[in-house]
Amino acid sequence: MGGRLGLSDEEKDEMIVTPWEVKGRVDYERLIREFGTQPLTDELLRKLAKYTGEVHLQLRRGLFFSHRDLDTVLELYEKGTRFVLYTGRGPSGPVHIGHLVPWIFTKHLQDAFDTRLYFQMTDDEKFLVDDERELDETSRMGYDNALDLIALGFKPRNTYIIYDVEDIDLLYDIALEVAKRITYSTAKATFGFQESTNLGWVFWPAVQAVPCFIHKKLTGENVPALIPAAIDQDPYWRITRDIASKLGYFKPAQIHNRFLPGLGIGGKMSASEPDTAIFTVDSPDVVKRKVWRAFTGGKSTVAEQRKEGANPDVCSVYQYFLYLFEEDDRKLAEREHLCRTGGILCGECKKDLADRINRFLAEHQKKREKAKDEIQKYHIKR
Ligand code: TYM
Repeated sequence: MGGRLGLSDEEKDEMIVTPWEVKGRVDYERLIREFGTQPLTDELLRKLAKYTGEVHLQLRRGLFFSHRDLDTVLELYEKGTRFVLYTGRGPSGPVHIGHLVPWIFTKHLQDAFDTRLYFQMTDDEKFLVDDERELDETSRMGYDNALDLIALGFKPRNTYIIYDVEDIDLLYDIALEVAKRITYSTAKATFGFQESTNLGWVFWPAVQAVPCFIHKKLTGENVPALIPAAIDQDPYWRITRDIASKLGYFKPAQIHNRFLPGLGIGGKMSASEPDTAIFTVDSPDVVKRKVWRAFTGGKSTVAEQRKEGANPDVCSVYQYFLYLFEEDDRKLAEREHLCRTGGILCGECKKDLADRINRFLAEHQKKREKAKDEIQKYHIKR
């Protein structure tokens, strides 16, 4: 699979961004154009900060870069219409720190707006899209991955995890309403379905649309959903937005993040490349080993680097400080300056990063253990 979503045939470079495959150097400007989303403007960030009280690190540093209808959601909010949050996970294996990016931001929004989060665990999707995977394996992984979400500190009162297979009775009527209004031709053009694609997969996008609308069924209140997620999930929202008003709902809004890169050269952090991904369950030694092998923007000899400096723009280690592990803007700027001028060597940055990650993971893993006793409180309340 892996259709080149929205990209014309002439554009033959290697970028592929679909919900199931991300390849090549991701050109985010081009995705905004091709997917038809809007860039996040400073003005919009200021509007958001009116309610959040700060511009969140992930916004300040440009990790979130694009949106659909965030302005509309904020205007409605100003006039008294609330919104709900929606995001999710396809539990194909352990969670990596890239997955945490949209969840950390979602938590920030949940705290600021005191609003409900619907979180979809798509064990069905991961079963359907991979010939080798068994359903009991993805379902089991769903409960495991929920621990990572809970460990981030979401409030049980406001957090509704949906496990697709277990909760399908709650989803099915809305999925049918959605599926009936999307033609095969639209789905094929959007997702790149082929003759060999199994039937379950073809129907499945209707299931990912459901949590955009489920709040009305549960509460009677018709409000928009705002979805923080990486840009790879956008095709789902494109088809969902097209049919939302036909069903009497608001169009779901999105705020899109870039991909946290892997520790290799370019690309996104991906579970399919475990040596360049940091999983939340990794031990300190494993983290050290992975970070030690990371691709950096360094020179081949110490002398050369001391003299000419290195390049943080292409360095995977620097991206982790930028996006997750150095909150202090001044300290980040200092690290960047030292790097460019040869005042710091890659080994030092790697050591600092491994320490930071391990400190974060030690806490996260403790909270993850504790979450085992809490998990029931987060299951969708009917
Ligand atoms: P999944 O499990 O592929 O990814 C979970 C979330 O993580 C984002 N993501 C990343 N973000 C930053 N850096 C990365 N390297 C990175 N890799 C993945 C994804 O965009 C996603 O937000 N079909 C979905 C599950 C789902 C969902 C949703 C996701 C169901 N409903 C609503 C977002 C919003 C999936 O398989 O996600």
